[in-house]
Amino acid sequence: MEAAKNQLDKFMRFSYTDFYYSSFVDLSEKLCKLVPDDFDKMVFWGNSGTEANEAAMKLARNHTRRPLFLAHGGALSLTASKSIHRVGALPLVPEVVHFLYPYCYRCHWKQKFPECDYYCIDYFKEEYLEKFVPVDEVAAYVFEPCQGEGGYIIPPPDYFRRMGFLKKEGVLFVDDEIQTGMSRTGKFFAVEHLGIEADLISIAKGMASGLPLGAIIAKANIMQPWKPGQHASTFGANPVAVAAALATLEVGEIREVDPKREEDGRDRYEKA
Ligand SMILES: Cc1ncc(COP(=O)(O)O)c(C=O)c1O
Repeated sequence: MEAAKNQLDKFMRFSYTDFYYSSFVDLSEKLCKLVPDDFDKMVFWGNSGTEANEAAMKLARNHTRRPLFLAHGGALSLTASKSIHRVGALPLVPEVVHFLYPYCYRCHWKQKFPECDYYCIDYFKEEYLEKFVPVDEVAAYVFEPCQGEGGYIIPPPDYFRRMGFLKKEGVLFVDDEIQTGMSRTGKFFAVEHLGIEADLISIAKGMASGLPLGAIIAKANIMQPWKPGQHASTFGANPVAVAAALATLEVGEIREVDPKREEDGRDRYEKA
C-alpha cells in the first residue's frame, strides 16, 4: 500500500504501449528472471488474467497460423468449470476443445494410479486426436499446472511431461499461472514442478496485491513478430499497479524458502 501511495503522489497514468517508464521495465525484467527456463523473453502487460489469456490466444494463432486450442485453462472460452458462466454468452471463441483434467483421486475412467499408466493420455490420443482434433491444426494447449477454478486438482507427476509429445507436433504450451503463480505452490511458477518448458506464461491475480495487473511472458520469437499496434492495452502496466507489484515481489523474495531450511530449521523470513 505504501508503494502504491507513493506512486499515486507522482503520477498514476502512463501509456506503456506508446512510451516507456522505468518501473514497468524493472518489473518485466524481474518477472522474466523468475521464469526457470533460459530463453529470450518478452512481456505484454494487461489488467487481468482474462486479458493475459486473450493475448496468449492471439499470439499462439499468430505464431502458428493454426486455429485450434486444447483447453485446461481459464477465461470464458477456455474454461469448462461451470456451465452457468456461458449462459447468455454463447457462441464463444470457436475451435476450443476441452478435455478432462487428470484427476487420480476420482478418476474419470475408474482407473488406479500408477497401474493405469496414464490411461487418460491414451484416451485423449484415441478419442480426440485420432477422431476429431487434427493435431497439426492445434495452435496451443492452454493448461493450469494444478487446476484451480475447476476444483483444486493436482495432476499425476508425469502427466505434463508425457503430454509433451504435443510439442513435437508444433503445439505451443500456454501455462496459465493466474491462480498458481506468485509462489502459491511453493515455487514462483507451478510449472517448475512439472518438468516441462512453457512457451507462454500468463500471470495476474495476486501479482499487484489487489490492484489490477496481468501479463504474458512469451518466448521472444513468438512475441517479436507482433507488429506495432497489433495488440495493445490502455491501462496495462498502470504505474500504481506496477509499483505495488514490485513491492509484492520484494516481500515474496523474503518469504521464499531457504534451501538450507531443512538443515537449520530456519527460513530467510525468520532471519529477516
Ligand atoms: C486459472 C485462471 N485463469 C484465468 C482467470 C481469469 O482471470 P481474471 O479474473 O483476472 O480475468 C482466472 C480467474 O479466476 C483463473 O482462475
